[in-house]
This record gives sequence, C-alpha cells and structure tokens, in this order.
Amino acid sequence: MSTESAAEYWENRYRENGRSWSGDVNVALAREVAHLVPGSALDLGCGEGGDALWLARTGWSVTAVDIAPSALAIGAAAQQPGDDITWIAADLAEWQPPTTYDLVSSCFLHSFVELPREAILRRAAAAVSPGGVLLIVGHSGAPHWHEPQDHEVVDLPTPDDVLASLFEDQLSLGDWTVLTKAVVARPVVTPHGAASTIDDSVLTLRRNR
Ligand SMILES: C[S@@+](CC[C@H](N)C(=O)[O-])C[C@H]1O[C@@H](n2cnc3c(N)ncnc32)[C@H](O)[C@@H]1O
Repeated sequence: MSTESAAEYWENRYRENGRSWSGDVNVALAREVAHLVPGSALDLGCGEGGDALWLARTGWSVTAVDIAPSALAIGAAAQQPGDDITWIAADLAEWQPPTTYDLVSSCFLHSFVELPREAILRRAAAAVSPGGVLLIVGHSGAPHWHEPQDHEVVDLPTPDDVLASLFEDQLSLGDWTVLTKAVVARPVVTPHGAASTIDDSVLTLRRNR
C-alpha cells in the first residue's frame, strides 16, 4: 500500500493524469435509481462526477464529495446551467453529512491508500432519510486481465459482507428493506480491445423509518 496520505495520492493522480474514468454514469447506479422519484442525493467519492452530472440531469439535487479537488474541477467544468450540484472537497474519513438525503450513493469507493470504508458507509447509511435509498456499488473482484498483485491490497467485499458491516453498531437491519443484493456482470471492453464482463457488487437498501 502506498505511504502517501489519501489526499496526496488521489489529488496527485488526478492532477497528473487528468480524467481517469469514462465520465459516464455508472451502469448500476442508472439501473438502481431509474424508478426513483428525484429528490436530494449525496454522492460519496464522486470522482469526476459522472454519476453526479447524470443525477442532476435527471432531476436530482446533488451533493458530490471527493477528497481530490482536481477531480471535482473536472466535474464542475462539465456542469451545465441548471445542473443542481454542490461540489465538496473533503476526506470522507472525517466528513460528517450535515443533513439526510433521499439517495445516498457510493460507487467504487475503493482505494490503494488508507480508507476506512466500513465506517464511511455506516455514516452513509445514517444519512439516508426515512423512505430514502442507500446504494453501494463496488468491484466484486479484480478484472481477470489484471495481475493479482495489482489488487491484493484493495478490500473487495461481497454484497453480504457490505450488508453485515453496515449493521455492526447502532443501525438496525430491521429498519431497512433490501431491494438489491447481487453480483451483477457488466459488459466491458478490456484494455486489449476484447469484449468481456466484470462483476459489480450491488447493494441497494430502502430505509423504512
Ligand atoms: C475508484 S474512484 C471512483 C469514482 C467515482 N465514484 C466513479 O464511480 O467513477 C474512487 C474515488 O474515491 C475518492 N476517495 C478515495 N478516498 C477518499 C476519501 N478518504 N475521501 C473522499 N474521497 C475519497 C477518490 O478521490 C476517487 O475519486
């Protein structure tokens, strides 16, 4: 694992490489959110804002948080008049959601540097309004074209692991309805140009009260 701080690692990565992801909405988010009535949304680890921009353009009022100001700047540059997005540069290890939201989303919040992911996701769950939805999407495994050592330091929990970790302390599973708990294959094109799939871990919960 890198010895850089999370802030240094991610900011340097975006500053040196520019855009790192597709800029498109994550397929799992678009699918899980499509039937929801738009309201307030919190996007944790939003990166360059592909999800935040899509949510805003489908009617959501979005708060998008990431540790890397350079990533947020890429998202903000793509923002159009009418896109209701508040960009916040903050370390989720410390940041406390100031209110609750109709949708709290965390897509691919993985890191090669220190990341207290479980604690962040428990705070995410606590920030969902009654009747609101929590969406947690992650990699279910390393891409088969990667070398094993590329991923050995990254925690890739199953949907069951994520669910169990959310309710270790004051939150109660009885207050939630599980809408989706699945590993879903997503079509991708490998860096070598071949059609393939990669597995996403998808957990979607509705807060009952
Ligand atoms: C793999 S990227 C995913 C980005 C985006 N959600 C997406 O799906 O394209 C992980 C993101 O988490 C952010 N991140 C990592 N650690 C963080 C932390 N402690 N606080 C806030 N953001 C963090 C990184 O800067 C990066 O943008």
